[in-house]
Amino acid sequence: MQNYPQYSNKQKWIHWLTLILIVLTFLLVLFKVTLSHYLGGMFTIYLLHKSFGVLIFVITLWRFTIIKTEGVPNVLPKNQKLQRILSKSIQGFIYIFLIIVPMSGYLMSSRSLNFGGIISIPAIDMPNMFYDFFHIMHKFSSYLLAILLILHIAGALYHYFWIKDKVLQSMLSRN
Ligand code: HEM
Ligand code: HEM
Repeated sequence: MQNYPQYSNKQKWIHWLTLILIVLTFLLVLFKVTLSHYLGGMFTIYLLHKSFGVLIFVITLWRFTIIKTEGVPNVLPKNQKLQRILSKSIQGFIYIFLIIVPMSGYLMSSRSLNFGGIISIPAIDMPNMFYDFFHIMHKFSSYLLAILLILHIAGALYHYFWIKDKVLQSMLSRN
């Protein structure tokens, strides 16, 4: 057992699994033209994009319940007020966007959502104007999420390479 605060194993697994899913979700749409040659067309690209997106949404809700029961470790020193405010606000906004991005993805379409080719979630019927609104929201919020993640990762690397404290290890090492 290490002598610095740590996230639970469950929290670590969820954190790194979300990273993998987010990267795949982004890569699928950013390189859709190239990838569609290998994956047998645009249908598969969007089937995977939407299914990964739904998984991220569900995992995020699960993450909330875990935080509620287990709490989060106090990783940053108490006297580093600015660092604490910055890192906690970025984490908070990441959570908000992990909900907004998949929700807007679902709401922007008048067609039912096919999850993994097995479950069909019916679309919500509304005027076209709203679909367009959620479409813009999906694009805009996904890029904002990407910016937040870049800041978040830069912060983690800053702690590891510059301050040389144990912040990164709190999310990495085995308990
Ligand atoms: C966290 C999860 C998600 C992320 C990070 C994400 C991200 C993105 C990004 C970056 C784009 C490209 C935007 C552009 O054209 O500039 C996109 C497009 C799209 N996303 Fe998502 N998405 C997620 C979840 C979902 C979900 C759950 C659905 C549907 C249920 C969905 C449906 C779509 C569709 C249909 C497009 C194509 C839009 C177009 O062609 O203009 N996405 N998404
Ligand atoms: C290379 C990529 C990443 C690194 C090095 C990294 C590193 C870390 C570290 C060290 C912490 C603990 C910091 C603290 O408690 O102040 C943390 C927490 C967190 N990270 Fe990341 N992260 C990465 C990617 C991601 C991604 C892709 C997401 C979301 C999609 C994410 C979301 C979060 C959230 C929400 C927290 C708060 C803790 C929690 O509630 O589980 N991170 N990350």
